[in-house]
Amino acid sequence: MNVAVVGTGYVGLVAGAGFAETGNNVVCADIDADKIAMLGRGEIPIYEPGLEPLVQRNLKEGRLRFTTDVGAAVRESEVIFIAVGTPPDEDGSADLQHVLAVARTIGDNMNGEKVVITKSTVPVGTAARVRATIEARTQHRVHVCSNPEFLKEGAAVDDFMKPDRVVIGVDSEYAQEVLEELYEPFVRTGKPILFMDIASAEITKYAANAMLATRISFMNMISRLCAKVGADVDLVRRGIGTDERIGPAFLFAGIGYGGSCFPKDVKALIRTLHETGIDAGILESVERVNDAQKRLLLEAVVERFGEDLSGRTFAVWGLSFKPETDDMREAPSLVVVEGLLARGARVQVHDPQALHVARRHFGERVSYHEHNFDAVDGADALLILTEWKPYRRPDFQRMRTLLRQPVIFDGRNLFEPARMRDLGFEYVSVGRVRAVPEPVPAS
Ligand SMILES: NC(=O)c1ccc[n+]([C@@H]2O[C@H](COP(=O)([O-])OP(=O)(O)OC[C@H]3O[C@@H](n4cnc5c(N)ncnc54)[C@H](O)[C@@H]3O)[C@@H](O)[C@H]2O)c1
Repeated sequence: MNVAVVGTGYVGLVAGAGFAETGNNVVCADIDADKIAMLGRGEIPIYEPGLEPLVQRNLKEGRLRFTTDVGAAVRESEVIFIAVGTPPDEDGSADLQHVLAVARTIGDNMNGEKVVITKSTVPVGTAARVRATIEARTQHRVHVCSNPEFLKEGAAVDDFMKPDRVVIGVDSEYAQEVLEELYEPFVRTGKPILFMDIASAEITKYAANAMLATRISFMNMISRLCAKVGADVDLVRRGIGTDERIGPAFLFAGIGYGGSCFPKDVKALIRTLHETGIDAGILESVERVNDAQKRLLLEAVVERFGEDLSGRTFAVWGLSFKPETDDMREAPSLVVVEGLLARGARVQVHDPQALHVARRHFGERVSYHEHNFDAVDGADALLILTEWKPYRRPDFQRMRTLLRQPVIFDGRNLFEPARMRDLGFEYVSVGRVRAVPEPVPAS
């Protein structure tokens, strides 16, 4: 099948490479000329495990091409995926300008019957707007469908190649047959392709992300109660996660969700609910809890060291919003690092993949370290913001000698408080007892 994927970000690039891997002729189009030039050379502009060999293999075998000419990509394809960004608008709604710009380009370049799929996360009713935009510009038949993407950054290739399910909103038999053929190689183990009406497919994506964000904020709320009364949120998590009706996933307390999806999708769903006159109270609370949770470690630092942090140095491990990605969009680290800097502190950061992204945010205001222990050197305390694997079992003896004071603020609950106390650390985590060694170190 000749497939065009418009937008080569986390979703479009993975989808394009995935469709090429199953034998299709795929052209990926993007208006970002630098990105397309890099991709044409087989260089990947983002960090995503397993993506580079997938792209390079399909590029070499001629099934995958990259272009800035979106119109040409449309003309040579029977199936066109729209995978451009849908950032939040000022009022929280999804900004559809990129999606509709692509729809206009498609309309202007229609040269036969085509299937157009919105893969970007878009509010209910968007596929209808895309259809109207295209139909206003052409006499050729167009089938518009919704195929929201559920991949997770950090595991995007695996998620795309072996999805839990594929959700497709269609209203034509032809489009259903085309998409069934395209997706059949990805669901050979029996995972379902769920065909449904278009509006239901569009809502499914927001409902999924809003549900996951709700679980996170719910546990973060419970973690505050645990901290107040001396309980342990990790035990509570296990206590409820073993209930089959609840399940264990997405119950970890932490310092809030970030990334390019949950924050904006929760906002956009709140906006849609408001527009339809439905109470969005649950999701408004989810957002409020999350905003507060991103400031949790900052508050703990201020409680320990005071409001004025000038003369203090803090090490920060982990800047990406989660491990295995370089994506820092809406990451808790942005709030924490800015909060430390605003109070006069010096900040020394480490991240296995996101340092180049961090430079765009913090410029020369922090020092960047390629090795995690270099960031700790001479710091008054260490803050752990992302649960990257190399942080899970660090050399604590070395850490003690490098830190000016053995104080750790752990936003991801990587260590056991009792063990940290025995190792001589003052250890603050989320929703668990604060560990303080005897005698209490002088500040
Ligand atoms: N990132 C994720 O984990 C994820 C997961 C599921 C769904 N989504 C959704 O998928 C969509 C894309 O997300 P992303 O993270 O890949 O975005 P991204 O910002 O990484 O990439 C978007 C790309 O679209 C390009 N673009 C913008 N306007 C264009 C135009 N008119 N023509 C051609 N290209 C254009 C940009 O240059 C950019 O390369 C969003 O709606 C997002 O909500 C993202």
